[in-house]
Amino acid sequence: MRSAKDFFRPLAVGAPDPLTEIPARPSRAIHFFDPSNAKMAAKVPQMVGTVDVLLGNLEDAVKADNKEAARAGLVKIAQETAELGGGGGSTQLWTRINALDSPWVLDDLTTLVTEIGDKLDVIMVPKVQGAEDIQYVDRLLAQLEAKARLDRPILVHAILETARGMVNVEEICGASPRMQGLSLGPADLAADRRMKTTRVGGGHPGYLVRQDPIVNADNVESGDRKTYQQDLWHYTIARMVDACAMHGIYPHYGPFGDIADVVACEDQFRNAFLLGCVGTWTLHPKQIEIANRVFSPSVEDITHARRVVAAMGDGTGAVMLDGKMEDDASLKQCLVLVELAERLAAIDPELKKAYDSIEVDQ
Ligand code: GLV
Ligand code: MG
Repeated sequence: MRSAKDFFRPLAVGAPDPLTEIPARPSRAIHFFDPSNAKMAAKVPQMVGTVDVLLGNLEDAVKADNKEAARAGLVKIAQETAELGGGGGSTQLWTRINALDSPWVLDDLTTLVTEIGDKLDVIMVPKVQGAEDIQYVDRLLAQLEAKARLDRPILVHAILETARGMVNVEEICGASPRMQGLSLGPADLAADRRMKTTRVGGGHPGYLVRQDPIVNADNVESGDRKTYQQDLWHYTIARMVDACAMHGIYPHYGPFGDIADVVACEDQFRNAFLLGCVGTWTLHPKQIEIANRVFSPSVEDITHARRVVAAMGDGTGAVMLDGKMEDDASLKQCLVLVELAERLAAIDPELKKAYDSIEVDQ
């Protein structure tokens, strides 16, 4: 057992102090790029300032033969793109390292932390199975941070993509003060759970409920019964959101592989937003616009939320607004939206303009 006091002591001599609170930095879109792909890498500098997070992916989707080129490419991009990452600036730099059981991960961590540790905000760890995986990374990062003389701890983000990781989700979130958040990994999770899907995220037309039989007066079935597609990921996302909220860290949806289906992508993102997620991965530039829009509260929601805040005065009791009862608890929901809007307005001038134009009449 570890004493609660030890959690906030560095795990290596000379490593930076762990944070007692994870900063609520916007991460509406975590945009994946392959640093071994020269064409993709060349676009990265122009994307700084247009997306909350740029993530250099080293794991799945990078061919085994390109693993070293991807690692070296990420180092080069980080070193050459001054405004990217490093705790300030509007675009964070994250990476997804290779899995902990792969032959590449040790070099990923050693190279990245010692060469660009000052630029890296968050390291995403795939296929996390339990607290022991986070503790392994935690100690190693502290040793490397000390070696690199970093003055700020690098945060850790776990992908939930195994059944064991799901079962252990609460202990994963609480395993280290470095834990920044979680993402859903629907493709690996589906395989690990032996689900019978073949897609990267999103729904499935076969996962549905059907209206009861429609029968006529003679009890004979007549008329087509409507079907309603259900969300395959509802349970998983809801569990992830609770585990993150309990530990003061941030839940995210993951990949939506059908790039052409922008409508279903938007629906999946919105479901995650409404359930409590703060962002998602984006795999193509057209998903960034969707993520930024969906994971930012609408002007209508902020207008309503500000009306409730104004009407509730000291925050206690109940008032009627447009025929609906508002009280301490609905005020708290409104404050979640208002505070999110303030954080986003601070980095997004268009949103700031939209939110500033709201006039609240009571
Ligand atoms: C992401 O890594 C996934 O497996 O869905
Ligand atoms: Mg995966």
